[in-house]
Amino acid sequence: MAKLVTIERHIMAKQKQFPSATGDFSALLYDIAFAAKVIGREVNKAGLIEDMIGKTGSTNVHGEEVKKLDEFADLIIYKSMDHTGRLCVMASEENEDVLHIPEKYECGHYVLLYDPLDGSSNIDANVSIGTIFSIYHKTSEGERGALEDCLQNGDKQIAAGYIIYGSSTMLVFCTGRGVHGFTYDPTVGEFLLSHENIKIPKRGKIYSTNEGNSAHWSEGTKKYIEYVKQIDAATNRPYSGRYIGSLVADFHRNLLYGGVYLYPGDNKSPNGKLRLQYEANPLAFLVEHAGGAASDGYQRIMDIKPDSIHQRTPLVIGSLDDVKEAEDFIQGKK
Ligand code: AHG
Ligand code: MN
Ligand code: MN
Repeated sequence: MAKLVTIERHIMAKQKQFPSATGDFSALLYDIAFAAKVIGREVNKAGLIEDMIGKTGSTNVHGEEVKKLDEFADLIIYKSMDHTGRLCVMASEENEDVLHIPEKYECGHYVLLYDPLDGSSNIDANVSIGTIFSIYHKTSEGERGALEDCLQNGDKQIAAGYIIYGSSTMLVFCTGRGVHGFTYDPTVGEFLLSHENIKIPKRGKIYSTNEGNSAHWSEGTKKYIEYVKQIDAATNRPYSGRYIGSLVADFHRNLLYGGVYLYPGDNKSPNGKLRLQYEANPLAFLVEHAGGAASDGYQRIMDIKPDSIHQRTPLVIGSLDDVKEAEDFIQGKK
């Protein structure tokens, strides 16, 4: 049985360790949990309501088809957060420009970046999808927040997390002191602490990548994937291949079981596919706090200085030893 620790109780207990805390940050996490419940409710019944499945007919700033649930989740998060006085600006994968707080509301000291629905190509097939978020302090001078607040290095994150809408809905987050997972209990309408202080195994036995892209990969990436498939009892090879195609779901499984996820740059897309600010950085923050690593193949993800809120990055993320080994292959050292 899950311990009867709600997200609120957990957050309040942590907050007591900081007597000067205003409660704004705790409330912000609670607002995210609320948005997650609303999105989770719609995701769970998506197959029943025709208006909720399928495409909107438009494409987003990344040139990808926007699904109805992408749009819905995007709006729910914005509307759950725009009036609270806790945020000064937001940015979402689905919107070209940063999202300002309406003039009629006060601004706060925090910045929220989010991927409202991750893995959305899987929605119509009832496969796990997610929401990813990242929180920073405001750094700009003005009162209302600006682009520069959304262009901070991942290293400056003060919290990050994701919600996975799977066989159950889970919220996993980190505020810098451990990575904690809460499972949603729909009978009481609360997220309850189910995975305290998650640690990723130092080495895994799973590799996750879209091998359909291998013809475009660099020699280093090809060699690494060949390597994990070779037989070698000492290093537990061959690894198992597991690829869902929803980053949140692939990441979540590897976080719990150990393993490595790769979306490398290739000769068609040198920067890969995933977005630095909405996908790579928040998951990098989580994996490092769980004892793992995240790299673009050459450098730590959270050290990359973003130039644009929608910039893409190659991503190698997961168990520490596996990420280091993949880097060696990508850099031609192995
Ligand atoms: P999103 O649905 O937010 O656009 O993200 C999709 C991403 C990620 O979830 C997943 O790992 C990756 O795209 C899958 O890409 P491929 O279909 O190219 O494998
Ligand atoms: Mn995504
Ligand atoms: Mn998305």
